[in-house]
Amino acid sequence: MSGFSAEWLALREPADHAARNRDLLAATAAAVADRQPVHVLDLGCGTGSNLRATAPQLGPEQYWRLVDHDVLLLAKAREELRRWADATLAEDAGGLVLSAAGRRVAVSFIAHDLSDGIGPLLVVPTDLVTAAALFDLVSPAWIEAFVQAVAAARLPFYTALTYDGREAWEPPHPDDEAVHGAFLAHQQRDKGFGPAAGPRATGLLAGGFRGAGYTVSEAASPWRLTERERALVAMLADGTAAAVGETGQVAADRLAAWRAARAQASRCLVGHADLLAVPTSDDQ
Ligand SMILES: C[S@@+](CC[C@H](N)C(=O)[O-])C[C@H]1O[C@@H](n2cnc3c(N)ncnc32)[C@H](O)[C@@H]1O
Repeated sequence: MSGFSAEWLALREPADHAARNRDLLAATAAAVADRQPVHVLDLGCGTGSNLRATAPQLGPEQYWRLVDHDVLLLAKAREELRRWADATLAEDAGGLVLSAAGRRVAVSFIAHDLSDGIGPLLVVPTDLVTAAALFDLVSPAWIEAFVQAVAAARLPFYTALTYDGREAWEPPHPDDEAVHGAFLAHQQRDKGFGPAAGPRATGLLAGGFRGAGYTVSEAASPWRLTERERALVAMLADGTAAAVGETGQVAADRLAAWRAARAQASRCLVGHADLLAVPTSDDQ
């Protein structure tokens, strides 16, 4: 199990879709506009949020391969995609064919542990490699091998919502700094790929792809949560406190008080970054 609950992914999906940088999404669509149909590989798909955000921007006929190691999340992805689509045109054990947003979207589901690398997933045809909210979990070494594999295939790569380490809560709380420092320490813990890159992930991806001769664009995609997102804010406070608790860096009573106060916060900014890497046109 990955530790990512379908409930958490459902709560964050509207905030993720609102935060995603529109220009980078449009540039991603432009980068694959000449691929018809377009074949997309989505890594760490969870319940399919990245497809639901991206597919409406891509061409009329799409083939998506959704990859996750959590088979329960893959089953939930199937359910959520059926619910999202205007119609299910076909379905079998391997996947679905949907009509959604005026597109025909064929989806297959692949149970795969990404810590084993992505080599076997880069089959032809693949036109775009993508992921959302994944790269802060992986290690710098994994990112290096990932960039090498994607660049060897000269494929475009688009990722959204990688945590960038910024967090600002309102109103301020005396333990914000201590909690945030411990949370950043937790970000570097092993999430199944070796010590995690955490907020360094986007910089590592950008440097790696530039070094491989790609044109790289980056953009901020912060959550700007208010009282309207009370349930997400409360779950964020719970998740942060649980992670910080594991570090032992903040005393339990102080952490409990912080968590209770933060569940009632009026505003919260959580920094993320999106990135698009496109091979230079003369070597595509
Ligand atoms: C923060 S969630 C993001 C899910 C989805 N992309 C979204 O935007 O809602 C991270 C996802 O990565 C998956 N994941 C984590 N470690 C993985 C691994 N070793 N192999 C495959 N998937 C993994 C989790 O199961 C989870 O679905």
